[in-house]
Amino acid sequence: MIDSGTARTTSAIPERLCTLEEVSSVLAPNGPISVRCTSTTPDFRQTGGRRRMAFITTPHLLPRLRKSQHQNAVSKRRQIVANYLSPASFHINFDTASTNGNFGAVFFGQYLDPVSEYTTPQDVVVKCPIASDLGRQLYNMEKHTNVKLNSNFSTDQRFPEYIGELLIPRDVPVIQGISRLGLVWRKIGTGETLEDFITTSRITQLASILRVSGNMRPVRRELAAGVLRELCLIVRDLQLCGIVHRDIKPENILVVPNDSGGTPLKAIDFGSSCDWKTPFKKGLRLATCDPVYMAPEKRLDLFKPAYRFDVYSIGLIVLRCALPNLTESKALSDFVSNGLAKCRFSFERVCSAILSGRLPCSEAVRQDIKALTSPQYNDLYAVLATMLTEDPNDRANVDDCLRSRLLQSAFV
Ligand SMILES: Nc1ncnc2c1ncn2[C@@H]1O[C@H](COP(=O)(O)OP(=O)(O)OP(=O)(O)O)[C@@H](O)[C@H]1O
Ligand SMILES: [Mg+2]
Repeated sequence: MIDSGTARTTSAIPERLCTLEEVSSVLAPNGPISVRCTSTTPDFRQTGGRRRMAFITTPHLLPRLRKSQHQNAVSKRRQIVANYLSPASFHINFDTASTNGNFGAVFFGQYLDPVSEYTTPQDVVVKCPIASDLGRQLYNMEKHTNVKLNSNFSTDQRFPEYIGELLIPRDVPVIQGISRLGLVWRKIGTGETLEDFITTSRITQLASILRVSGNMRPVRRELAAGVLRELCLIVRDLQLCGIVHRDIKPENILVVPNDSGGTPLKAIDFGSSCDWKTPFKKGLRLATCDPVYMAPEKRLDLFKPAYRFDVYSIGLIVLRCALPNLTESKALSDFVSNGLAKCRFSFERVCSAILSGRLPCSEAVRQDIKALTSPQYNDLYAVLATMLTEDPNDRANVDDCLRSRLLQSAFV
C-alpha cells in the first residue's frame, strides 16, 4: 500500500516489481516523495541483502482481476460447450432445410447418441433460428419450455422428446441467414401436421387416426369431438407446467398415426410460449402468433385467466374441422376477419348475425352454420360458443371443455 500526500495517479506505475526510485519517479516526477509502508501490507522486504524492493499491490490488482475474468470466461465457455450435443454424432445436411419457417429452419437427419445403449442412429429434427435478436429470443423461449416439458412428462407423450442443443461447427456449411445453434428433438411420425391432413382432404383418414367414427355430413361432429379432446389434453398438460403456447394452430400440431402411446396429436413450436409459473412470466413480452388463430385479447393480461388464450385457438381449429365449408384455410381466415372480428369475436353473435342475414357470407357457409345451430348438434355448438368469446373471463377453460356434453356423449 502506498500512501503519498501528493500521489496523483497510480495508473502509470509499472505492473511489476520496481525499485523505490522508479516508484518515486512515477508518483512525483518533479521531485522526491516519501513512500511509507502501512503495517497491514508488507510492502518492503529484504531481498537477499540487495536493495529493498517495493511490492506495489494496488496496481497489481487490475491485471490479476483481468486474468481471473478471462479464466472465468474460459471455464464458462467450456461448461457451455460441454452442454452441447457432439456435432460428430449427427448426420445432417445443414445447407438444405427440410422446412423453412418465418423465424428459423428445420432440418431432418440422424443422431447417434454416444452414451445410449442403442447403437442405431435415431431420426431427429434440428431447428436453427434466424440469425437475429428476435430469432434468438424465440429460440431461448422454445428451449426453456422444452426443457421444462421434458422434465415433467415422459418422452413423446403429447410433445416430441427434446434431446438437447447443438452448436454447428464453423467448417460445416449452413444455409444463409441462420444461426449455428440448434434445438434437437426426436423425429416422430413423418412430420405431417394437422394442416396437411385438413388441406389435402384426408379428413376421413384423420378420423380413423383419432379413432372416431361417424357421420361427416352436414357437420363433422365426431371428428370435431376427437380433435377437441386431443388438443384439450395437450393444453391441460401444458397448463400443469405453467405454459401458455400462444401459437396453437394446425401447422403446429403433429399427426402421428399408430402412435405407440395412443396420443396421435403432438404440439410443437414453443417459440411464442410464456411460462406463467415463473415469477416474471418468462416470455410474456414476446410472441409471434398467427393472426387467424390468435385469441382476441392478443396479449396475456396479468389479471385475466392466461391459459384460456389457447382455448380460443383450439375453438377455431375445432370449428374448421367441424364445418366442411370452413375447412379451407382461406375460408376460415375470411370467417375470422369478416365475421368474428365484426361481431366482437363472439361465436354466438356471428351465428345469429349470419342466420338473420345481418352479416353477409357465402350461402355454403350459411348452410353449415344453420346445420350447426340445429338441435342435433346442440352439444357441439354449445362448446364452441363458450370457447369462442372475446373476454377470457367468459371463456371456457380446458377442464370445462373436457367435461362438456359433447365429449361426455362422444366418448362414452
Ligand atoms: N419432432 C418432430 N418430428 C417430426 N417433424 C417435426 C418435428 N418438429 C418439427 N417437425 C416438422 O418441422 C416443421 C416445422 O416445425 P416448427 O413448427 O417447430 O417450426 P417453424 O414453424 O418452421 O418455425 P417458426 O414458426 O418458429 O419459424 C413442422 O411442421 C413439422 O413438419
Ligand atoms: Mg410452426
